[in-house]
Amino acid sequence: MRVYTWQMMLDNYGTWLEIDLSILKKNFVLLSELSGTNVMPIVKANAYGHGLERVAVAFEEAGAEWFGVARIEEALALREVGIKVRILVLGYTPPSRIPHAIQENISLTVYDPLVAEAYSEYANGLKKKVNLHVKVESGMGRLGVLMKDAVGFIENIHGQTNLLLEGVFTHLACADEPEKEVTEKQVSQFEVLLNELRSKDRLPEIVHAANSAGAINYPGTRFNLVRSGIALYGQPPSAETKLPEGVRSAIFWKTRLISIKDLPPGHGISYGHTYHTKKTECIGVIAVGYGDGLRRQPGNYVLLHGKKVPIIGNVCMDQCMIKLEEVPDAKIGDEVIIFGEQNGAEITSSEIANNWNTINYEVLCGLAARIPRNYLNIKN
Ligand SMILES: Cc1ncc(COP(=O)(O)O)c(C=O)c1O
Repeated sequence: MRVYTWQMMLDNYGTWLEIDLSILKKNFVLLSELSGTNVMPIVKANAYGHGLERVAVAFEEAGAEWFGVARIEEALALREVGIKVRILVLGYTPPSRIPHAIQENISLTVYDPLVAEAYSEYANGLKKKVNLHVKVESGMGRLGVLMKDAVGFIENIHGQTNLLLEGVFTHLACADEPEKEVTEKQVSQFEVLLNELRSKDRLPEIVHAANSAGAINYPGTRFNLVRSGIALYGQPPSAETKLPEGVRSAIFWKTRLISIKDLPPGHGISYGHTYHTKKTECIGVIAVGYGDGLRRQPGNYVLLHGKKVPIIGNVCMDQCMIKLEEVPDAKIGDEVIIFGEQNGAEITSSEIANNWNTINYEVLCGLAARIPRNYLNIKN
């Protein structure tokens, strides 16, 4: 289920996300200033949980000229809501999707000769051209034609009348780490290729390599397009990478206190009774669970009345229990923060990621589709 709630009555929901579009737009402007070149917002995975369509409209209003997505379905969803600017699919696109790519003017990533040939055949059948960006492998070990094969691969694309080479790019594996060696090696290999393409008059219009961390930590990776995701959402790519001044988180994850009761000593809490009350304890229930993306693991906490209160017992699918000892004046209906600020206190997605032994990206991408997204400052 996908819940579109551009404006809503918050009283109607147990858990919800608040996303301030004016902050996202400001982040776009600040990162564009820092990069000194075009920034392509990466809006894959439901715009890192923020909601693909509404967020893309906001970035387009802020001046974005490109969007990056992982799959063609995401690109088509953007066209459906009226996104006009260029869109690049960063992942694999099955050749049978070429008619959709051409019809909707969506650029595709290519890195394999057989797939390129299949694209050419489909495009040929339609008597149209498909726009391509060649991805080269410089150290990520994921998608990309090997450096040694890249010039031949690009020459071959030039030889096909139905394939239009728009861009060439690579992806950085360690730009969020202070250890510079890997990134510098990746960039210098990529530059060797660019020089060779330039000398053969085969350098395409658009050259890109930087993700958020690359753009922030390694100015030499910016070329003429920066593909930024996490930093545009106001989250640091890593603990070592400082966001530019003024870039901040645009998202709050909230829920509500839905039950309060005193339980006697020795009372088990939640499935598996991993917690027992030590004395008579005031226990609250909040309306959020692993079905929303809150992981079922120990050590979670939330903010209530600006205080950090622990989640106790196993997280259930739609609810979990909290200790109310520190917040004696809590009442049913009170707002509870899973991440975001409350009364001067804050829990960040990075903090949650640390507790879960993962990265903030995964916390955001794990925000379930069923959580209503409420957009603030739509017009600013
Ligand atoms: C190819 C590619 N470029 C850019 C990005 C954006 O990365 P970040 O969110 O770190 O800016 C990603 C994200 O995973 C990616 O896969």
